[in-house]
Amino acid sequence: MIDESRSVTRTARPRDMTGERVLVTGGLGFIGSNVVHRCLELGAAVTVYDCLDPRSGGNMRNVSDIEARVEIVLNDVRSLEGISACIRGKTIVFNCAAYTSHPLSMLEPLIDIDVNCKGTINVLEAIRRFNGDVRLVHVGTSTQVGRMHSSPVDEAHPEFPRDIYSANKTVSEKYVLIYGGAYRLSTCVVRLANVYGPRSNIRNPDLGFVNYFVGLALRGKSLTVFGDGRQLRNLSYVEDVTDALILAAQSQSAAGEVLFAVSDQQYSVAEIARAIVAHIGGEVRFVDWPSERQAMEVGDAVISNAKIQALLGWEAHHDLASGLGRTAEYFRPRLDAYL
Ligand SMILES: NC(=O)c1ccc[n+]([C@@H]2O[C@H](COP(=O)([O-])OP(=O)(O)OC[C@H]3O[C@@H](n4cnc5c(N)ncnc54)[C@H](O)[C@@H]3O)[C@@H](O)[C@H]2O)c1
Repeated sequence: MIDESRSVTRTARPRDMTGERVLVTGGLGFIGSNVVHRCLELGAAVTVYDCLDPRSGGNMRNVSDIEARVEIVLNDVRSLEGISACIRGKTIVFNCAAYTSHPLSMLEPLIDIDVNCKGTINVLEAIRRFNGDVRLVHVGTSTQVGRMHSSPVDEAHPEFPRDIYSANKTVSEKYVLIYGGAYRLSTCVVRLANVYGPRSNIRNPDLGFVNYFVGLALRGKSLTVFGDGRQLRNLSYVEDVTDALILAAQSQSAAGEVLFAVSDQQYSVAEIARAIVAHIGGEVRFVDWPSERQAMEVGDAVISNAKIQALLGWEAHHDLASGLGRTAEYFRPRLDAYL
């Protein structure tokens, strides 16, 4: 029999953040803006640093309801000066700014290096020079791993990324760990996979298929699945992921670590598409793989969250039905701002 009281007490939730001064790079984007909302809710003072790159998921609508309560700095992580000016006095940095499109990274590899590699070095240099006491949580991605060599994938799995974005995320992750070790900074990496939910970009297929499918479903359109859609994915609801990032910032034991924050649930791409149609709308259509997409495809991706559970007590709270329900509830009255 499952001992419910035990499983509840084992699951950690972020603590009160009163007195924390938080900087969120990429705070107008999907993950970053959800972190901003949650930190505010927990009592932190929050600064957003974002250049609203039109190729990304950045959207002022993501913070329009809290605009008066956060400081918003419209600037670029490629500016060491700009990020240095914001790092002073902060207690926590969430590094969520990134050039986030896999296909665009193949077309514009130099921009991807500038933002994802040099941008991360700028954040690290600013910390090293001006605020060595700050705690940095850097966001990584499961696609750093590439094709699975063993299942489930954990943090020790080798990395063979299959596109430039993922390769640069691998490199930036190593910068974060190197700076942590070499300069005794409190840095850690939380890797994410297929995050969906409120404040995502639902109109651009290059920024994550789940959120794009949600956007199509909300308009009653066809969701196009490449091939048979049998490849498995871990899905994560954004509120769960946000709590994982904050828990990592609040725990000394996360320093120097790489952690996968993914839910336990794996679904095939076809199952995900059917669930979205069932909960939101639209219909599923299967088509042949476009060749440029197939080259980046990683096949099954089954990831273990055992490490983050053991170290931080984190667990996902939302199943697919509740996550999709909350997502639709958020977007329905705000569709104009996101499409
Ligand atoms: N969404 C997912 O499923 C997922 C999965 C794995 C990892 N991640 C990681 O999470 C982080 C956030 O991704 P997201 O999904 O919120 O993407 P997003 O595109 O919604 O947000 C990225 C934000 O960064 C900003 N940005 C881009 N270039 C910038 C620059 N040069 N200077 C300042 N700001 C800049 C954009 O304007 C945008 O607001 C990224 O590091 C990404 O690699 C996301």
